[in-house]
Amino acid sequence: MIRVLFNKKGGVGKSSLTVNLAAIAAKQGLKTLVLDLDTQCNTSAYLSAQPGTDIAELFEQTITFHIRRRPAEEFCQPTAFENLHILPGSARLAELESELHSRHKIYKLREALSSLSEHYDRIFIDTAPALNFYSLSALIGADSCLIPIDCDDFSRQGLYSLYQQIAEIREDHNANLKVEGIIANQFMQQAKLPRQIIDELLEEGYPVLPVPLAQSVKMRESHQAKTPLVSMAPKHKLTQSLLELHQHLEEQAAKKA
Ligand SMILES: Nc1ncnc2c1ncn2[C@@H]1O[C@H](COP(=O)(O)OP(=O)(O)OP(=O)(O)O)[C@@H](O)[C@H]1O
Ligand SMILES: [Mg+2]
Repeated sequence: MIRVLFNKKGGVGKSSLTVNLAAIAAKQGLKTLVLDLDTQCNTSAYLSAQPGTDIAELFEQTITFHIRRRPAEEFCQPTAFENLHILPGSARLAELESELHSRHKIYKLREALSSLSEHYDRIFIDTAPALNFYSLSALIGADSCLIPIDCDDFSRQGLYSLYQQIAEIREDHNANLKVEGIIANQFMQQAKLPRQIIDELLEEGYPVLPVPLAQSVKMRESHQAKTPLVSMAPKHKLTQSLLELHQHLEEQAAKKA
């Protein structure tokens, strides 16, 4: 199962949720990989990825001559957390992007993901806040897309255009791509507007997931401690919501399988 966390809007929680949902899957015994496709490398920092091989080198292999191409799994490394591996991001992705694009390497990540799925039960992909070569590659290679939003009106406007782009990717490249759900992140229970936005999206038929995630400073503390919430604060309310969200996703996926 390959999930990509995507939203063109920045700062909505893509990296935070990639790591935390992946860490929950790993904690539950699933062999899990986090793939960092963002030049900011936030997920790589969160999981203390070590210098060495990274995703840029994997892409680079596709445009340079190699006697032996290294399989994608050789670019992954373990983290401090059991069952949780990372394929680290790299700032060099930015330099490679135009060449990969001009040489039509858009399906190369799909090939790599298909071989990685033989080694991992779950793959979570973090993307940059843009529909660039890499996020498009991820959407082409993934089974599903999770869209975090921060419940404001800009998020809602962005969602409409995002949906059109996802529909186009589904039609042109990946008929299996599902929008697994929209995650209401940094949800303020007491405020009226976020609830109203969610209700309106639901009325319009958008699949907002039934587990909103509250805003909590614990998330930032977890980044600082480089430890996912399920390990750092297993009893915290936000962790409990993440666990519930993960369970919902797994049950929903099992029903549709
Ligand atoms: N539920 C939450 N409660 C409190 N803070 C949160 C929560 N979710 C995310 N944040 C904070 O919001 C900021 C943005 O989160 P994050 O980096 O995960 O978003 P992103 O979508 O990956 O951003 P970018 O588009 O820049 O990659 C971070 O400082 C993070 O700690
Ligand atoms: Mg991010």
